[in-house]
Amino acid sequence: LGVQPPTQRTLVVRAAHQVTAEERERVQVATEYNGFAFSAGMLLVDFLSDSGASAMTDAQWAALVRGDEAYGGNHGLYAIVHAIRDTFERPRPRGQAPVVSRIIADDADDIGEWWRQTDAEEPAPNTFANWGRALRESPNFFVLPQGRCAENLIFGTVGEVLARENAPKPWRIPCNGFFDTTEAQASVNHFTPTNLFSPHFHDAFSVADVDRTNPFKGNIDIARLEKIFELGGTVPMVLLTVTNNTAAGQPVSMRNIEQAAQIAHAHGVPLVFDAARFAENAWFIHEFEEGWKGRPILDIVHAMFSHCDAFTMSAKKDGLGNIGGFLCFRNKGLFHKRFSTPEHDVGSLLQEKQIMRYGNASHGGLSGRDIMALAAGFYQVVRPEYLRRRVLQTRKLAVDLVKAGVAGVIMPPGGHAVYLDMTPFFEGTPIKIDDFAGVGFEIELIRLYGIRCCELGPFAFEWDQKNAEQRKGILNLVRFAIPRNMYNEDHMSYTVAAIAELYKHREKIPKVTVARGAELHLRHFQSGLKP
Ligand code: F0G
Repeated sequence: LGVQPPTQRTLVVRAAHQVTAEERERVQVATEYNGFAFSAGMLLVDFLSDSGASAMTDAQWAALVRGDEAYGGNHGLYAIVHAIRDTFERPRPRGQAPVVSRIIADDADDIGEWWRQTDAEEPAPNTFANWGRALRESPNFFVLPQGRCAENLIFGTVGEVLARENAPKPWRIPCNGFFDTTEAQASVNHFTPTNLFSPHFHDAFSVADVDRTNPFKGNIDIARLEKIFELGGTVPMVLLTVTNNTAAGQPVSMRNIEQAAQIAHAHGVPLVFDAARFAENAWFIHEFEEGWKGRPILDIVHAMFSHCDAFTMSAKKDGLGNIGGFLCFRNKGLFHKRFSTPEHDVGSLLQEKQIMRYGNASHGGLSGRDIMALAAGFYQVVRPEYLRRRVLQTRKLAVDLVKAGVAGVIMPPGGHAVYLDMTPFFEGTPIKIDDFAGVGFEIELIRLYGIRCCELGPFAFEWDQKNAEQRKGILNLVRFAIPRNMYNEDHMSYTVAAIAELYKHREKIPKVTVARGAELHLRHFQSGLKP
């Protein structure tokens, strides 16, 4: 038919309230024009973030109702251990239902079977999720409230280990693109985060090729990665963000993962993934990478993760959750060996922090309900029909904007968001980068049309606080991040029409000044603005 078959239907509906531009402007004045502070209930479409903002599936709601709020050994932990193993490390035996489904079914004959099996089991070599005695003696799997909590644990603990070793500084962590909280967590723990964006990031890409090929612009620059190890100081790990949110949500190829792993391992250093959008990354490999095209998503995920020694994950993205995060590393693998000493098992050091800061091992600061919803989410997010719809929705938004004549659409789009480059967008007007017109665009889109996006450019990355060298790393972007399973064609065509209309009148978009809190760190969450 030349169109995709439907993949879902909607059972619960929330009305979007019709609010006038004047009413929205009153709220903008009261909230100092800060996009994060604007009242979400007055919006028609919200692209601020795809994080925790998605609609859960009916299977997740079913799992949630079967949550267990016990303070120790809640049954969601069994469900999540199996979900992590099934998703990231091995195929589930054919015909065996996931533990989360068996808990939902509440079959009296089955009660206890799954946990007896799990508890009796010797942990498989290389597992990311120890269980039973192995988990107590050498924890390698941590449930946490968010991705940044996992980052806080890993950088805090690795930093302590390096300090004890008197490891020479700088402690460089090379990465294909640090997410902002990840970079902040690394910096406060005395690391030097080093972005090695793909050298092809700025290459032109023809819109006509969008369904045919993908340049994997999220890759790490392999040549520069090799050189990092010659610079002196200490490189404690190599980090890969899949997909690369900071580089416009672009995917990382399997080839690039293999090469990064080879280099890291040749230097005895673990490869760590920031796995927030692992499933979307796997989809791009499935759709475009030679040698992997058409292969089952789970095979691709297992292959991707076979190269990494540890991962952090915000489960608010490809966990399909509203909250949650993980930190995992292989039992007795390279991460464990590199950061443990005869006196200190690195897993126990991490667990001490988990317990002190977030919650004990069996819930890590999440409710049992949320853990169950995540366990179900992992089985749904890797479905090809879900991922196809997800990625094609993002792609269609980008292509439709180009067709509507809007300049600056970053092509090809990544998995979770469409980015507009404000430099070509404002070409032909007298607007300069330090006019923060990307924020002006964000403000006008909220005021006139009730659509919220997020500036990730000179305002968010503090252009005015940085020197000429640092300014080179700042892209002039605005992001439209698409929540999962939330919006339909109405939302998207409305958005395209609104952006095209603003583009036509772009000379009227106001310049913006930072009226309060220009010096704050991660200021876009907090400061006050004035158009
Ligand atoms: N890593 C990546 C790649 C992320 O995109 C995020 C969050 C995090 C880590 C931190 O996870 O929010 O659970 O603590 N990104 C969101 C966004 C906030 O809008 O892109 P968290």
